[in-house]
Amino acid sequence: MENPRQKVDLVGLLNSGELVKVCAPMVRFTKLPFRQLVLKYGADIAVTPMIMSDSFVRSERVRDLQFTTTTLDTPLVAQFAANNAQDFADAAELVLPYVDGVDLNCGCPQSWAMSDGYGAHLLTSPELIRDMVHQARERTHLPISIKIRVNSDLRRTYDLVRTVESAGVAYITVHGRTTKQRSSTPPDLEAIRLVKEHATVPVLANGDIYSLQDAVSVREKTGVNGVMAARGMLDNPAMFAGYETTPLECVQDFVDFSLSLGTSPSLFRHHLGYMLDSTMMGLDKRHFWSLHSTPAILEFLTDRYSITYNPTNF
Ligand SMILES: Cc1cc2nc3c(=O)[nH]c(=O)nc-3n(C[C@H](O)[C@H](O)[C@H](O)COP(=O)(O)O)c2cc1C
Repeated sequence: MENPRQKVDLVGLLNSGELVKVCAPMVRFTKLPFRQLVLKYGADIAVTPMIMSDSFVRSERVRDLQFTTTTLDTPLVAQFAANNAQDFADAAELVLPYVDGVDLNCGCPQSWAMSDGYGAHLLTSPELIRDMVHQARERTHLPISIKIRVNSDLRRTYDLVRTVESAGVAYITVHGRTTKQRSSTPPDLEAIRLVKEHATVPVLANGDIYSLQDAVSVREKTGVNGVMAARGMLDNPAMFAGYETTPLECVQDFVDFSLSLGTSPSLFRHHLGYMLDSTMMGLDKRHFWSLHSTPAILEFLTDRYSITYNPTNF
């Protein structure tokens, strides 16, 4: 990892009055090359994939595998899953030199997370979240944020917001679905608007934002300080720059970032498959997804899109 760098004032940015556009944390996907890409194409902040704080704290190998960054990887927020304040604060302290903020995942609905007290399970224990935010803040003086889902009884969400505000939470991302709702259910923008109305800290809206127009419209409907997008960013990492589909120059940049900074062939193919999905026909698509090596993927890109690896492109 490179040297520590100047911090970006995330809360100042969120209070600037500009629409702040954030690339969501995505397990497996929001690694260094993809973060560099979205930051180049209009995202104002990028977030790491959720990292398990306990193994991060205990294992150097996990740290090396799960958290790589450079001085250009900014503004950067590291997201952790934790079920106790000690692990969360320890993990926050370890990334302190390299990030602009640390986020606590309070939204993961997967059964393993729920049964071990991680992710959305934390929403049932606002006092625990408060202690986690408080300890991490005391130990690092970094902005500590949380990413939550709405409760069907919104009074419980307002209570949570009040509780974490008392611990000095920097901002809150609200995914407008409940823990039980799947991603096919439209997010509840009115619930996000009400949470924003009750909050004194900045709020980010999350759910079904697939374009810059969606981002502007969600802000108009909810009054939030910023928006966060996940699946839309995978399909089109340039969406926040106003592109309706992924431009080929963005694909070219992804190839250059990935191969210069390092990525696995499988992740390389997955990202490219999502970005190019709307441009590939059935047979070509099937052929693309059958490729397993980086040289084979590059050969495909050169043949179909005249894209080659250009290490001096950035
Ligand atoms: C592949 C994938 C991985 C995700 N990983 C995380 C994660 O690591 N942490 C997190 O808080 N949410 C994670 N999420 C949830 C997203 O951040 C986001 O809250 C959700 O997808 C709704 O936003 P969207 O409608 O823009 O996709 C993930 C979602 C996807 C699709």
